[in-house]
Amino acid sequence: MLRTGLGMALAIGLMASTSVAHASGSDAVAMKVEAGKPGAVIDRNIFGQFAEHLGFGIYGGVWVGKDSPIPNVRGVRKDVVAALKAIKVPNVRWPGGCFADEYHWRDGVGPADARRATVNANWGGAGEPNTFGTDEFMDFVGQIGSEAYVSVNLGSGTVEEASDWLAYMTAPAESAAGKERAANGHPEPYKVRYLGLGNESWSCGGAMRPAYYTDLMKRYARFVRNYRQEQMETGAQPMQRIAVGPNGPDTAYTEQVMKTWTEHDWSWNIEGLSLHSYTTGGWPPSLSSTDFGKADYARLIKETLGMNDLIVTHSAIMDKYDPEKRVPLVVDEWGVWLQPAPGTNPGFLIQQNSLRDAIIAALNLNIFARHADRVRMTNIAQMVNVLQAMILTDKEKMLLTPTYYVYKMYLPFQDARFVPVNLDAGTYREGAIDLPRVDGIAARDKDGRLWLAVTNLDPERKGTISVTFDGLVAKSARGEVLTGPQVNSVNSFDKPDVVAPKPISGKASKGGITLELPPKSIAVVQIGE
Ligand code: AHR
Repeated sequence: MLRTGLGMALAIGLMASTSVAHASGSDAVAMKVEAGKPGAVIDRNIFGQFAEHLGFGIYGGVWVGKDSPIPNVRGVRKDVVAALKAIKVPNVRWPGGCFADEYHWRDGVGPADARRATVNANWGGAGEPNTFGTDEFMDFVGQIGSEAYVSVNLGSGTVEEASDWLAYMTAPAESAAGKERAANGHPEPYKVRYLGLGNESWSCGGAMRPAYYTDLMKRYARFVRNYRQEQMETGAQPMQRIAVGPNGPDTAYTEQVMKTWTEHDWSWNIEGLSLHSYTTGGWPPSLSSTDFGKADYARLIKETLGMNDLIVTHSAIMDKYDPEKRVPLVVDEWGVWLQPAPGTNPGFLIQQNSLRDAIIAALNLNIFARHADRVRMTNIAQMVNVLQAMILTDKEKMLLTPTYYVYKMYLPFQDARFVPVNLDAGTYREGAIDLPRVDGIAARDKDGRLWLAVTNLDPERKGTISVTFDGLVAKSARGEVLTGPQVNSVNSFDKPDVVAPKPISGKASKGGITLELPPKSIAVVQIGE
């Protein structure tokens, strides 16, 4: 469970952007888009989600059961499915998290009334009915049109158990494992596109020394097979095995796993290295998700921007062993981790989600996009009702958080090609903390359309962004802007639209665009050429 301390969040440079001294006090910010110098593709998997058996993340948030009065399809909430479909979730990591290393998949298959009830010892000692298991998860990802990222139990399970699980999910219907699956209603093998080989093995996953982990990792990578033809190593869409990697700034796992990777042979391989890093403001998290002022706002933004340093640090080690960037860095847990909402079970990690959190999401997504050549998958923690969630539910009620809207607005960036920008970002100063006033990225989508995403971090000053383009004449800029009355504004069940996107357009002149950004806002616009 990492914890990027504030110490990590030191001086921030805007990667791939040139930060130039800026006339203090001026509202104007200059952005130059190098439209003729396309970079790496921003893999849609950067917009992945994480759903753990934790609090109301699954039970109540995704799964209500077939007999629930809450509208559902085979037990999965209709409203949540519709909201997630709308943000084109590319992959869902499941069942944990720390939960994964104590999960025994057999508890969650077969007739619902015969499933073993267990205790979720990691998260509040809650009862785990196991009514949401493998078949329900696969049904859920199918309903939202996403890919499965399954984390196997390397901490307290066995290679045999994990191997049997993959056989249950992927073996042909005529095999014994396939027959068992068919008896549970699913003759067709499932698709497991991504496989996590343990979770945080340096901590809740077994507190393993890096070398002990890599010995185990090799056995799991060898024997936990995917039996679908197209997902075998030589298939069209081979399953990607993602190894446990660093805990925030600690490079021990990065070194060990990547060095071990150079020794892979025909018998085993890995296709991803995980990184976990949360924005916490210190450990244990004590900052409120709703009751905060400018100082805490700036402090968390600064810590968030430290994600860039983390990626630079771990990428440099990966480059040493893998200069061709064959192994992606997979940031499969990140987000804001704050004090639990008052009156809730602290083990359920329930927190509100403010405009500040949306800004933090946008800044992280921008960092990932700038490193798209190495960072090809990430999973925000977590999808529903836990930590920096997209969606909050309360029985039959559901709301979309400010962070959800960032994911919606950033849809054009899924699989788009990164376009470098030079940004004269200016400075937003809060006490002793200096931050860039503005952050932004650009990309061309698969249809060739050019998009800008620009965030005004300053909670008080509007930003006039003067955008110039190398190699094209801009005729228009239209899109959406997300802002709210305060940085701590939230959407609630009573007032679900306090922070919601509104239309924005820029003014075209002399081939460039001027965009007026409200304070504390995120805008995504398409450039008309
Ligand atoms: O996301 C909550 C927890 O944070 C996960 O279970 C664990 O992997 C991490 O420490």
